[in-house]
Amino acid sequence: MPASHIAPGLPPDLPVRLLIGGRWQPAQDGAVFAVEDPASEERLAEVADGTEADARLALEAAVQAFSDFGRTTAQERSRWLGAWFTAIRDERQTLARLITLENGKPLAEALGEVDYAASFVEWFAEEAKRAYGRIIPASTTDRRLLVLRQPVGVVAAITPWNFPAAMITRKVAPALAAGCTVLLKPAALTPLTALYLAQLWQAAGGPAGSLNLVTTSHAAQVADVWLGDGRVRKVTFTGSTPVGQELIRKSAAHVQRLSLELGGQAPFVVMDDADLDLTIQALRTSKFRNAGQSCVASNRMLVQRGMLEEFTARAKALVASLKVGPGLTPGVEVGPLIDRPGRQKVLDHIQDALGQGARLEAGGEALPGKGFFLAPTVVSRVTPAMRVMHEETFGPLIAISAFDQLEDGLAMANDSPFGLAAYAFTRSAARAWRLAEALEYGIVGLNEGLPSTAQAPFGGWKLSGLGREGGSEGLDAFLEEKYVAWGGLQG
Ligand code: SIN
Repeated sequence: MPASHIAPGLPPDLPVRLLIGGRWQPAQDGAVFAVEDPASEERLAEVADGTEADARLALEAAVQAFSDFGRTTAQERSRWLGAWFTAIRDERQTLARLITLENGKPLAEALGEVDYAASFVEWFAEEAKRAYGRIIPASTTDRRLLVLRQPVGVVAAITPWNFPAAMITRKVAPALAAGCTVLLKPAALTPLTALYLAQLWQAAGGPAGSLNLVTTSHAAQVADVWLGDGRVRKVTFTGSTPVGQELIRKSAAHVQRLSLELGGQAPFVVMDDADLDLTIQALRTSKFRNAGQSCVASNRMLVQRGMLEEFTARAKALVASLKVGPGLTPGVEVGPLIDRPGRQKVLDHIQDALGQGARLEAGGEALPGKGFFLAPTVVSRVTPAMRVMHEETFGPLIAISAFDQLEDGLAMANDSPFGLAAYAFTRSAARAWRLAEALEYGIVGLNEGLPSTAQAPFGGWKLSGLGREGGSEGLDAFLEEKYVAWGGLQG
C-alpha cells in the first residue's frame, strides 16, 4: 500500500498529513499508520504518524502564531468561525460518511453528529463577541479597578474517537473564539474526520498556525512534549479517567490549566409513575447512541419495583427491534463497536453479570463475521457487586436492577465514584425535583435521554472530570482574568 493510500469512497484530496503552521507535511521520519473501518476491518487510509519531533514543530508554530492571533479582534475570529460553520454544513454529507467509515456509527447518526459539531462552531462564533470584562467600583476616587479577560495562550486539545467531529469542535471552536492557538491531537482510531475539519478551517480563512494538527499513534509521547513545555497554557482532554489522572500529574510541573471530560457510569432511574413510552424512547437514545460508546451513555438501569416487569419487557422489545449492521447500510440503527478490545469489554461485563446470577433476557453475544458487532443485550437481576454496576461498559448492554423507595434508588444512583450524567423518569414534579437536586452528577436528564447541547455546560463531578465545555462556561475555559488597578487618576 503506498504511503498516501486513501480508499475509494473517501475524499481523494484528504490531506493525510500533519498541519503545522499552515502547511500540510509528512511526519519528520516519514512514518504512517493505518486507519481501519470497524465494520469491515479493512484499511481506509494511511495517515502521517507524528512523533515528538513533530509535536515540537507544531508547538513552535502555535507559539509563533499566538503573538498575532491572540491580538485579533473578536469580530475577526467570529467571522472565521462563522465561515467554518458554513463550510462544515456544506460538507455535511462528506463529513458524516467519514465519521461512519472510521467510527462505525450509522450514517443518520453521523449526520446528527455533524450538526452537533457545527452547533458548537456556530455557538462560539457568537460567544467570541461576549468575552466581557468588568469594572469594579473602587474605594478611592483616584483609582479604577478593571478585570480584563484574555486568551489563555497555546492550547493542547486531545480528542476521543467516539465523536470524531463534535469533540473537536467543542474544544477547538471556543479556544479559537477566545484567541488561543491550538495543538490538536485526534484519536488514532479516527483521524480522518479531524483532517477534513482542519482542511475546512483553512478554507474558511483560519490563519496559518491558529490550528495545528498532529495525527499520531504515539499519543503519550506527543502529549508529553506539550505537557512538558510551559508555553502550552491549557490542556483540554476527553477520554478515560486513568489518562485524565495522568494528565493532572503531568500538568503539575507548569501548572497548566486543565479541562477534563472523563469517564461516566450513568444511572437511569425509572420511577413507577414514569411515562414508559417516553422512558423507552430515552433509553434508546441514551443507551444506543453510538452503540453505547458515549461518556453519557446510561449504564445502570435502576427501576422501581412496581415498574420492573413492564420495563424489562419493553427493553427486550426495544433491542429486538434494533437493526444492527454496517453504518452505511440503509436502516441500520446500531453499528459495530470501535475495535476488538472494546467489544471484549462489553462481553466481559455480560459474562461477569451472568456468572454472578444475573439473567440474560436478550442478546449476549458477538455477531459472527467481519467487524466488531455485538447483539444489543439485556440482563436483569443485576446486583451492586457486578462490574456493570461500577465500571463504564461503553457498549450496547442494558443492565437492570430493582429498588423499592425513591431514596433507595437515589442511594444506588449516587453510589459511584463517577459523576458525569444521570437520568431520571417520573411524572411527579416533586419527585423530579428531589432527584434533580440529589443526584451527584454534572448533567441530569429529567424525562430526557439526550441532554447534550451547545448552549449548556457539559462536564462531570468526581472522577468524571474538571471544568465545563459548551455554554458560556465553554468560552470561560479558554480565558484568563487579569485584574488591573489603575491609580493616579485624580484629575
Ligand atoms: C462523550 O461521550 O464524550 C460526549 C457525548 C455528548 O457530547 O453527548
